[in-house]
Amino acid sequence: MPRIVILSASVRQGRASHRVALYLEQYLTGTADIELDLIDLNSYSFPVFEERFKFQEDPSPSVREFVHRMAAADGIIIVTPEYNGGYPASLKNVIDLLVDEWKRKPVAVCTVSGGAFGGTQVITSLLFTLWKIKAWVVNAHLPVPKVEEAFTPEGLPLDPEGWTKRTKPFVNELLWAVEARKRME
Ligand SMILES: Cc1cc2nc3c(=O)[nH]c(=O)nc-3n(C[C@H](O)[C@H](O)[C@H](O)COP(=O)(O)O)c2cc1C
Repeated sequence: MPRIVILSASVRQGRASHRVALYLEQYLTGTADIELDLIDLNSYSFPVFEERFKFQEDPSPSVREFVHRMAAADGIIIVTPEYNGGYPASLKNVIDLLVDEWKRKPVAVCTVSGGAFGGTQVITSLLFTLWKIKAWVVNAHLPVPKVEEAFTPEGLPLDPEGWTKRTKPFVNELLWAVEARKRME
């Protein structure tokens, strides 16, 4: 059974993009035969990056745990907010922390914004960074505009049919890549 991580990147007080992470958790557990792990960066309170995990002499238990969860993933869905046309420092902080764990790891990106464009401006910078770190970013994107009007704090969509229609191909593309990678091992 593939293990999928949802990486919820916002650590902002009063954040709303985590609603989408909760929605995806519910969607995936309800529709796919997978093992799911929702990693909430807000629960870690990591310090600003000082060195990559593999070069840290005495990594903290929480860093060790985070790296273990990421390494165990067969595929990752990143749920990121858009801040000033980019992705948050909290996300860059953990992308840089890992090296080999990203290599050829299937990754799908979900961008979330308060505005009308669904965080699409994040894509250019985030995809480039993920490409540099050698992740396998799948050709599917789930943009979520006006998040507070679209999802309740519990992650329930106000338009369930519409979101299923958009989420299904997004998730399927990731699961295809996860299966393809497994066959190459
Ligand atoms: C520092 C900052 C910058 C933001 N910049 C943008 C932006 O460029 N475009 C946009 O549509 N929304 C922007 N927003 C709104 C966020 O996209 C919105 O808060 C959304 O809910 C996702 O972030 P959150 O999970 O932290 O709530 C910004 C919010 C913050 C805190």
